[in-house]
Amino acid sequence: MIEVKHLVKTFKSGDTNVDATNNISFKVPDGQFASIIGRSGSGKSTLLSLLGALDKPTSGSIVIGGQDLTKLSDHELITYRCKAIGFVFQGYNLVPNLTALENVMLPMEFAKVSRAERKTRASELLEQVGLKDDKQLRKPGRLSGGEQQRVAIARALANKPKLILADEPTGNLDSATGKMIFDLLHKLSRSENTTIIVVTHDLAIAGKTDATFKLDDGKLVSK
Ligand SMILES: Nc1ncnc2c1ncn2[C@@H]1O[C@H](COP(=O)(O)OP(=O)(O)OP(=O)(O)O)[C@@H](O)[C@H]1O
Ligand SMILES: [Mg+2]
Repeated sequence: MIEVKHLVKTFKSGDTNVDATNNISFKVPDGQFASIIGRSGSGKSTLLSLLGALDKPTSGSIVIGGQDLTKLSDHELITYRCKAIGFVFQGYNLVPNLTALENVMLPMEFAKVSRAERKTRASELLEQVGLKDDKQLRKPGRLSGGEQQRVAIARALANKPKLILADEPTGNLDSATGKMIFDLLHKLSRSENTTIIVVTHDLAIAGKTDATFKLDDGKLVSK
Protein backbone atom coordinates (compact mmCIF):
# COMPACT_ATOMS: atom_id res chain seq x y z
CA MET A 1 0.00 0.00 0.00
CA ILE A 2 1.14 3.51 -0.83
CA GLU A 3 -0.16 6.17 1.52
CA VAL A 4 0.42 9.80 0.68
CA LYS A 5 -0.54 12.27 3.40
CA HIS A 6 -0.71 16.06 3.18
CA LEU A 7 2.12 16.13 0.66
CA VAL A 8 3.52 19.58 -0.05
CA LYS A 9 6.43 20.44 -2.34
CA THR A 10 7.24 24.12 -2.56
CA PHE A 11 9.71 25.45 -5.10
CA LYS A 12 11.18 28.86 -4.50
CA SER A 13 12.02 30.94 -7.52
CA GLY A 14 13.12 34.46 -6.62
CA ASP A 15 10.55 36.04 -4.33
CA THR A 16 7.73 33.72 -5.29
CA ASN A 17 6.88 30.26 -4.02
CA VAL A 18 5.20 27.65 -6.18
CA ASP A 19 3.37 24.83 -4.44
CA ALA A 20 3.94 22.17 -7.08
CA THR A 21 2.04 19.70 -4.88
CA ASN A 22 -0.32 21.34 -2.45
CA ASN A 23 -1.59 19.17 0.42
CA ILE A 24 -2.16 15.99 -1.57
CA SER A 25 -3.44 12.83 0.16
CA PHE A 26 -4.36 9.50 -1.44
CA LYS A 27 -3.85 5.75 -1.17
CA VAL A 28 -2.96 3.14 -3.76
CA PRO A 29 -3.33 -0.54 -2.75
CA ASP A 30 -0.63 -3.06 -3.79
CA GLY A 31 -1.02 -4.33 -7.32
CA GLN A 32 -3.20 -1.45 -8.46
CA PHE A 33 -2.72 0.31 -11.75
CA ALA A 34 -3.32 4.01 -11.17
CA SER A 35 -3.07 7.03 -13.44
CA ILE A 36 -2.32 10.68 -12.77
CA ILE A 37 -3.80 13.25 -15.13
CA GLY A 38 -3.88 17.04 -15.23
CA ARG A 39 -2.82 19.89 -17.48
CA SER A 40 0.78 20.96 -18.00
CA GLY A 41 2.34 22.40 -14.84
CA SER A 42 -0.27 20.84 -12.53
CA GLY A 43 2.37 18.92 -10.55
CA LYS A 44 2.31 15.42 -12.07
CA SER A 45 6.05 14.97 -12.57
CA THR A 46 6.74 16.54 -9.17
CA LEU A 47 4.44 14.01 -7.50
CA LEU A 48 6.10 11.14 -9.36
CA SER A 49 9.60 12.31 -8.31
CA LEU A 50 8.49 12.48 -4.69
CA LEU A 51 7.00 8.97 -4.86
CA GLY A 52 10.23 7.71 -6.38
CA ALA A 53 12.36 9.47 -3.75
CA LEU A 54 14.14 11.44 -6.46
CA ASP A 55 13.18 14.55 -4.54
CA LYS A 56 12.20 15.31 -0.94
CA PRO A 57 8.86 16.84 0.06
CA THR A 58 8.66 20.16 1.89
CA SER A 59 6.16 18.58 4.28
CA GLY A 60 3.81 15.62 4.53
CA SER A 61 4.59 11.92 4.34
CA ILE A 62 4.81 9.06 1.88
CA VAL A 63 4.48 5.61 3.42
CA ILE A 64 5.19 2.70 1.08
CA GLY A 65 4.86 -0.84 2.41
CA GLY A 66 4.88 0.51 5.97
CA GLN A 67 8.09 2.52 5.43
CA ASP A 68 8.01 6.31 5.66
CA LEU A 69 10.21 7.60 2.83
CA THR A 70 10.59 10.98 4.50
CA LYS A 71 12.33 9.29 7.45
CA LEU A 72 14.96 7.37 5.45
CA SER A 73 18.59 8.47 5.34
CA ASP A 74 20.13 9.37 1.97
CA HIS A 75 21.89 6.02 1.91
CA GLU A 76 18.65 4.14 2.59
CA LEU A 77 16.94 6.14 -0.15
CA ILE A 78 19.52 5.03 -2.71
CA THR A 79 18.89 1.39 -1.83
CA TYR A 80 15.13 1.98 -1.93
CA ARG A 81 15.31 3.55 -5.41
CA CYS A 82 17.50 0.78 -6.73
CA LYS A 83 15.63 -2.22 -5.33
CA ALA A 84 11.99 -1.21 -4.89
CA ILE A 85 11.27 1.14 -7.76
CA GLY A 86 11.35 0.98 -11.53
CA PHE A 87 11.25 4.26 -13.42
CA VAL A 88 10.10 4.74 -16.98
CA PHE A 89 11.01 8.27 -18.06
CA GLN A 90 9.29 10.12 -20.85
CA GLY A 91 12.48 10.45 -22.88
CA TYR A 92 13.43 6.76 -22.29
CA ASN A 93 16.84 7.75 -20.82
CA LEU A 94 18.62 4.73 -22.27
CA VAL A 95 22.40 4.73 -22.30
CA PRO A 96 23.20 5.34 -26.01
CA ASN A 97 26.48 3.43 -26.23
CA LEU A 98 25.14 0.28 -24.56
CA THR A 99 23.05 -2.33 -26.37
CA ALA A 100 19.42 -2.93 -25.40
CA LEU A 101 20.54 -6.02 -23.47
CA GLU A 102 23.27 -4.09 -21.61
CA ASN A 103 20.82 -1.30 -20.76
CA VAL A 104 18.51 -3.81 -19.08
CA MET A 105 21.46 -5.49 -17.31
CA LEU A 106 22.70 -2.19 -15.84
CA PRO A 107 20.33 -1.79 -12.84
CA MET A 108 21.05 -5.40 -11.85
CA GLU A 109 24.75 -4.58 -11.74
CA PHE A 110 23.98 -1.86 -9.18
CA ALA A 111 21.98 -4.48 -7.25
CA LYS A 112 25.03 -6.79 -7.36
CA VAL A 113 23.43 -9.60 -9.37
CA SER A 114 25.96 -11.96 -10.99
CA ARG A 115 26.83 -11.33 -14.63
CA ALA A 116 25.40 -14.62 -15.90
CA GLU A 117 22.14 -14.06 -14.09
CA ARG A 118 21.94 -10.46 -15.32
CA LYS A 119 22.30 -11.58 -18.90
CA THR A 120 19.70 -14.33 -18.67
CA ARG A 121 17.14 -12.15 -16.91
CA ALA A 122 17.70 -9.17 -19.23
CA SER A 123 17.19 -11.35 -22.28
CA GLU A 124 14.01 -12.86 -20.80
CA LEU A 125 12.62 -9.42 -19.97
CA LEU A 126 13.32 -8.15 -23.48
CA GLU A 127 11.56 -11.21 -24.91
CA GLN A 128 8.59 -10.44 -22.67
CA VAL A 129 8.29 -6.95 -24.11
CA GLY A 130 8.63 -8.34 -27.64
CA LEU A 131 12.27 -7.58 -28.42
CA LYS A 132 13.99 -10.66 -29.79
CA ASP A 133 17.32 -11.92 -31.06
CA ASP A 134 19.46 -9.36 -32.87
CA LYS A 135 17.34 -6.43 -31.69
CA GLN A 136 18.54 -7.12 -28.15
CA LEU A 137 22.09 -6.51 -29.36
CA ARG A 138 21.33 -3.17 -31.03
CA LYS A 139 22.10 0.18 -29.49
CA PRO A 140 19.10 2.48 -28.84
CA GLY A 141 19.89 4.64 -31.89
CA ARG A 142 19.09 1.68 -34.15
CA LEU A 143 15.71 0.95 -32.53
CA SER A 144 12.37 2.68 -33.15
CA GLY A 145 10.83 4.93 -30.49
CA GLY A 146 8.37 2.22 -29.44
CA GLU A 147 11.15 -0.36 -29.25
CA GLN A 148 13.26 1.99 -27.10
CA GLN A 149 10.30 2.53 -24.81
CA ARG A 150 9.93 -1.24 -24.47
CA VAL A 151 13.62 -1.51 -23.54
CA ALA A 152 13.02 1.22 -20.93
CA ILE A 153 10.13 -0.82 -19.50
CA ALA A 154 12.21 -4.00 -19.43
CA ARG A 155 14.94 -2.04 -17.64
CA ALA A 156 12.43 -0.72 -15.10
CA LEU A 157 11.46 -4.33 -14.33
CA ALA A 158 15.03 -5.60 -13.95
CA ASN A 159 15.19 -5.68 -10.15
CA LYS A 160 11.60 -6.90 -9.76
CA PRO A 161 10.38 -3.63 -8.22
CA LYS A 162 7.20 -3.53 -6.20
CA LEU A 163 6.39 -0.16 -7.72
CA ILE A 164 6.71 1.14 -11.26
CA LEU A 165 6.50 4.87 -11.87
CA ALA A 166 6.09 5.97 -15.47
CA ASP A 167 5.98 9.57 -16.69
CA GLU A 168 3.99 9.63 -19.91
CA PRO A 169 5.30 6.27 -21.11
CA THR A 170 3.16 6.51 -24.24
CA GLY A 171 3.53 10.26 -24.81
CA ASN A 172 5.89 10.03 -27.79
CA LEU A 173 4.32 7.00 -29.41
CA ASP A 174 1.64 6.52 -32.05
CA SER A 175 -1.67 5.36 -30.60
CA ALA A 176 -1.31 1.69 -31.61
CA THR A 177 2.17 1.40 -30.04
CA GLY A 178 0.95 3.38 -27.04
CA LYS A 179 -1.86 0.89 -26.54
CA MET A 180 0.60 -1.99 -26.77
CA ILE A 181 2.83 -0.43 -24.09
CA PHE A 182 -0.19 0.23 -21.92
CA ASP A 183 -1.44 -3.36 -22.29
CA LEU A 184 2.03 -4.59 -21.39
CA LEU A 185 2.08 -2.56 -18.17
CA HIS A 186 -1.43 -3.71 -17.37
CA LYS A 187 -0.47 -7.35 -17.83
CA LEU A 188 2.52 -6.88 -15.52
CA SER A 189 0.47 -5.30 -12.78
CA ARG A 190 -1.72 -8.39 -12.90
CA SER A 191 0.92 -11.12 -13.31
CA GLU A 192 3.51 -9.79 -10.83
CA ASN A 193 1.20 -7.83 -8.49
CA THR A 194 3.31 -4.78 -9.28
CA THR A 195 1.84 -1.42 -8.33
CA ILE A 196 1.96 0.90 -11.33
CA ILE A 197 1.46 4.65 -11.39
CA VAL A 198 1.46 6.34 -14.80
CA VAL A 199 1.26 9.98 -15.71
CA THR A 200 -0.68 10.36 -18.92
CA HIS A 201 -2.41 12.94 -21.09
CA ASP A 202 -4.36 10.19 -22.79
CA LEU A 203 -7.81 10.05 -21.25
CA ALA A 204 -8.61 6.78 -23.03
CA ILE A 205 -5.66 5.21 -21.17
CA ALA A 206 -6.54 6.85 -17.85
CA GLY A 207 -10.11 5.59 -18.19
CA LYS A 208 -8.90 1.99 -18.24
CA THR A 209 -6.81 2.14 -15.05
CA ASP A 210 -8.07 1.04 -11.61
CA ALA A 211 -7.93 4.58 -10.22
CA THR A 212 -7.33 8.04 -11.66
CA PHE A 213 -5.97 11.01 -9.74
CA LYS A 214 -6.54 14.40 -11.28
CA LEU A 215 -4.26 17.30 -10.36
CA ASP A 216 -4.99 20.96 -10.86
CA ASP A 217 -2.50 23.60 -9.78
CA GLY A 218 -0.82 21.22 -7.32
CA LYS A 219 -4.09 20.10 -5.76
CA LEU A 220 -5.81 16.76 -6.07
CA VAL A 221 -9.20 17.62 -7.51
CA SER A 222 -10.67 14.16 -7.99
CA LYS A 223 -9.90 10.49 -7.47
N1 LIG B 1 12.84 22.56 -9.98
C1 LIG B 1 11.82 23.44 -10.03
N2 LIG B 1 12.00 24.72 -9.63
C2 LIG B 1 10.99 25.61 -9.64
N3 LIG B 1 9.74 25.31 -10.05
C3 LIG B 1 9.50 24.05 -10.47
C4 LIG B 1 10.53 23.04 -10.49
N4 LIG B 1 10.00 21.89 -10.97
C5 LIG B 1 8.71 22.16 -11.23
N5 LIG B 1 8.40 23.45 -10.94
C6 LIG B 1 7.07 24.09 -11.06
O1 LIG B 1 6.13 23.27 -10.37
C7 LIG B 1 4.91 23.17 -11.11
C8 LIG B 1 4.61 21.72 -11.42
O2 LIG B 1 5.56 21.22 -12.35
P1 LIG B 1 5.53 19.71 -12.89
O3 LIG B 1 6.76 19.49 -13.68
O4 LIG B 1 5.29 18.80 -11.76
O5 LIG B 1 4.25 19.75 -13.84
P2 LIG B 1 3.62 18.61 -14.79
O6 LIG B 1 2.21 18.42 -14.36
O7 LIG B 1 4.50 17.42 -14.80
O8 LIG B 1 3.62 19.32 -16.23
P3 LIG B 1 3.84 18.69 -17.71
O9 LIG B 1 2.53 18.04 -18.11
O10 LIG B 1 4.11 19.90 -18.54
O11 LIG B 1 4.98 17.72 -17.66
C9 LIG B 1 5.08 24.07 -12.33
O12 LIG B 1 4.55 25.34 -12.03
C10 LIG B 1 6.58 24.14 -12.49
O13 LIG B 1 6.95 25.35 -13.12
MG1 LIG C 1 5.68 16.48 -16.29
